[in-house]
Order: sequence, then structure tokens, then C-alpha cells
Amino acid sequence: MNDTPRGAFKSNFGLMMAVAGSAVGLGNIWRFPFLAGQNGGAAFLLLYLGLVLLVGLPMILSEFVIGRASRRGAVGSFKLLSPGTRWYGIGYLAVITGFVILGFYSVVAGWTIRFLVEAASNNFVDGGITESFDGFVNSAWQPILYSLLFVGATAAIVAGGVEKGIEKYSKILMPMLLVTLVLLAINSVTLSGFSQGMEFLFKPDFSKITMNSVFDAIGQVFFTLSIGMGVMITYSSYVVKDENMVRSKGIVTVIDTSVAIVSGIAVFPAVFTYGLAPTQGPSLVFLALPNVFAQMPGGYFVGLLFFVLLLIAALTSAISITEMVVAYFMEEFKLSRIKAILATSGGVMILATVSALSQVEGSSIRIFGINFFDFLDMLSANYLLTIGGLLTVIFTGWVLDKKLLYNTFTSGGRYAVWLFKPFMFMIKFFCPFAIAMIILSKLGIF
Ligand code: TRP
Repeated sequence: MNDTPRGAFKSNFGLMMAVAGSAVGLGNIWRFPFLAGQNGGAAFLLLYLGLVLLVGLPMILSEFVIGRASRRGAVGSFKLLSPGTRWYGIGYLAVITGFVILGFYSVVAGWTIRFLVEAASNNFVDGGITESFDGFVNSAWQPILYSLLFVGATAAIVAGGVEKGIEKYSKILMPMLLVTLVLLAINSVTLSGFSQGMEFLFKPDFSKITMNSVFDAIGQVFFTLSIGMGVMITYSSYVVKDENMVRSKGIVTVIDTSVAIVSGIAVFPAVFTYGLAPTQGPSLVFLALPNVFAQMPGGYFVGLLFFVLLLIAALTSAISITEMVVAYFMEEFKLSRIKAILATSGGVMILATVSALSQVEGSSIRIFGINFFDFLDMLSANYLLTIGGLLTVIFTGWVLDKKLLYNTFTSGGRYAVWLFKPFMFMIKFFCPFAIAMIILSKLGIF
């Protein structure tokens, strides 16, 4: 990802859509509702919104400043901006994080494929979705097969270099996904569990806030905005013209957050209508929505459309992570593109197989008392991304030349000048302090 020809995006709008495409994925539609469900709904939503604004936005801006000031990828940028230091280690951390994320992301993306097949065969109308899902997960070979299929498809797209085409289509497809979600959210009004679901999502019960929910919320902020692993550094290195960075990154943040909230409005009324537990965990969305498709008018097509679009959203996110890891292998080990892809996807396939197996009932593939799938999820979002992000803000706030920082942030004094001081305060003091406190208190050190 370093030193690739710059200016790959024709316009800043195109770049903004690509950034939004990377951010919007399973994180918004699958991960947000299940975490909110486990952490008391509205209380979690508030924590999440607060942290998006106070940590997520300054973080995404930090990564943009680094990428734009250096015009390099995640490793190269630190080498250029701070020669002779070891800050580029953040780039190596990102490669590890990429593997860890893909190791469970691919499994969930595999579920999406299987649900797409079920939707196409009109199987939701018969009900029994929970039983059928349990049977699927416990068969072991099915979830493995589907996730390997997903990893294979990702590898093929990255190998064929057709991801640019996909990016082009996702400009149309991602807004379609949002429209489908809005449709489902509106349809929620017709469900008997509507008010219960809305109350759960929007009426905060602060007694539900625990250290764990704060920890989950910050992990989700990093995960959903694709920050903490240098992906935004790479994207911003492609910026074509001067732009009002604060505005465009603000828009991306708003889009990403809206998708999560709308998906909450689509999911929770269904959860209560069909007698599911909000604390269900990772299967929550997959169990709740098919019931809605079975009942709503035109549900066959809406369901089909939803899983197609969700799969594409997962693909675009997985492609960008894979691309980053592949670029690293090519550069560092001077591998050919194909060999780098084989190494990356081979590694991901092993991790995905183990995490799919760990979800089989009674499986003993557990680490620190949780199954391997949950472990990869927690390790990446809650630890690797937050630590990567912590190092990145410290670098931006304390190491990066202040003049360069100012000029990049404001495009030489043209935009958002008044926001520079608050931004400096956030990245120098508030963000490092907040992120460090949350990690340390979780570890029981503080
Ligand atoms: N943000 C993506 C989602 O919500 C997942 C993700 C995390 C990601 N880190 C990333 C995607 C880095 C691309 C690059 O699904």
C-alpha cells in the first residue's frame, strides 16, 4: 500500500464514498445491534454516540492528517514523518489486526451467503429460523464451507484487480443498502414489539452501564469506523485536491453512525416481536430479520435484496483489509501478488475454520473462557484497534510537527481553522487519556 501511484480517486467525493464504503459493513448491521443488545440497549447507544464524537472523529481526522501529510501508506507514512523511530510499528500491528478481523469477519460473511441461499429458496416463510440456524452452525462443515467460499471470493477479487469495479458499484449499492434498512425500520412500526424495541434502544437505563459496556462501546467505535489500523491513513494518501477534511470526515462519521442506528430500529422491534433475547449475541440479526421478511409484504424480495447487499458490504470491507495485508507481504518479502494473496488468504482460511469450529455447541476451542470466534472479535476491536489508535493519536498529537499538522488539517489555513485548537486538545490530551484509561481499567491495572 506504500508508494502506489497517488491520485487513484478522481474526486474527493469518490474518496469520501470509498471511505464510507470501508466503514459501513457487518460492523454496523451485525455487530452494533448484538453489542447494544448485550449492553442494555439505549445506555450502550449513548456511550457509543458519545465516543464516536469524542474519540472516533478526532481519531479518523488524525489518520487523515498522517496520510495526507505523508502521501504514504500505514508503514511508509510513519517512516517518512518520523525517520529513524519505531513508530512504523503501528503498521505492523495493523497487519496482525487485519488477520484477526478477517478470521471472524469471514465466518459472519459466510452466514450471510447461507442466508442469501435460504432467502432465495424462500425458506424463511416456514419459520423455525432459530432451529435451522443452530443446525447450520452445529453442522460445523457448513459454516466452514461458506466462510471459505467468502475468503476465496475475496482473494479472487483482489487477485483479479477488479476491486476498483466493485468500488464503483458500491457507490450505488451502499445507498441501496441504506434504503433497504430504512424500509425495514419503517416496517418495524407494524410489529407488535415496536414500542418495546424502541424503548429498549432509546430509553436509557444508566444502571446498565458497566466498565464492560464502556469497553465494548469504544471497541465498536474503532471497528465500525475502520480506524486504529492505518486504513484511513492509506485512503487519505490518495486525496486529490485540497478539501475541507473536517467536513468530509464528519459526513462519513454521520453516515456510518446512521446506518448503525437505522439497523437498530429495524432489528430490536423484531427481537421483541419474535421472542428473542436481546442478549442473544452474534446470531441476533440473523435470527431476528428473517422473521420480518417472512411476514412483510414483498418480504421475499426485501430479504433477498438485504442479504445480497449485506454480502457486498462485507466483501468491500474484507477486500480493503485483504488488500492492505497483501500489499505488506509484497513489499516486505518481495512476494509476487499471487503468492502474497495465497499467504494472506491461506492464513485467514485457517483462522476462519478454527473460529467456525469453536462455535459448535460444546466445542473446547476456547481462550480465556470464551470461544475462539468471540476471542478474535474481542481481541481485534477491543485491544488491537484501540492500542493501534492510541499510538496513532499520541503520534499525531505529540510527535508530528505542529506546523505540518496545522497546515494539513486546515489545508494551509483555508478550512476549519477554528476547529484546530479543539482538535489539538482532543488528540493531545483527551483521546490518549480516555483510550488508555479504558484499556487499563479493563485489564484491572487501573
Ligand atoms: N468498518 C468495517 C465494518 O464495520 C470493518 C472494519 C474494521 C474494516 N476495520 C477495517 C474495514 C479496516 C476495512 C478496513 O464492517
